[in-house]
Amino acid sequence: MTKTLTARLNHPLSIGGKPVANRLWLAPMAGLGHVAYREVLDDFGGCGLMFTEMCSARAVPTENRKVSPVFSWRKAELPRLVCQIAGATPDELIPAARRVEDEGFSASTSTWAAPCPVSSTKSGRGTAQGTTGRIGRSGSRT
Ligand SMILES: Cc1cc2nc3c(=O)[nH]c(=O)nc-3n(C[C@H](O)[C@H](O)[C@H](O)COP(=O)(O)O)c2cc1C
Repeated sequence: MTKTLTARLNHPLSIGGKPVANRLWLAPMAGLGHVAYREVLDDFGGCGLMFTEMCSARAVPTENRKVSPVFSWRKAELPRLVCQIAGATPDELIPAARRVEDEGFSASTSTWAAPCPVSSTKSGRGTAQGTTGRIGRSGSRT
């Protein structure tokens, strides 16, 4: 018998040994996936997995989550929350990933931003897109 879409979406899965309750996920969306939006989604029944805003690897190790617009969460969502971190080098990304792990996030995902001319972004870093687009700009926020 063909499964209904609802049954398919509600079917749990395991990623890297971690259980994910269902297959309805919030895609990573810089500028949209903030903590308030994720709370609204939870009020509608929630997602099996969600992604934070893009967080600067430079900022994450010392970031105050009470005031950060991007590195911010509700404790209840942590087991279903993946933190997006953007950085250019292992020296930046490793301490950020450690903090993400210590805080109890489900996982982290990293964006490697290649160096580019200082005139392209304020911090002198960004992806190829970042030289002309906004994803690299948010990724290079410090
Ligand atoms: C406004 C917007 C912001 C996005 N921000 C991110 C992001 O921060 N990180 C990321 O990995 N993908 C980002 N994406 C890509 C989406 O997560 C998704 O992969 C893309 O929209 C393709 O999904 P679709 O195949 O369901 O259309 C963004 C997409 C949009 C439209």
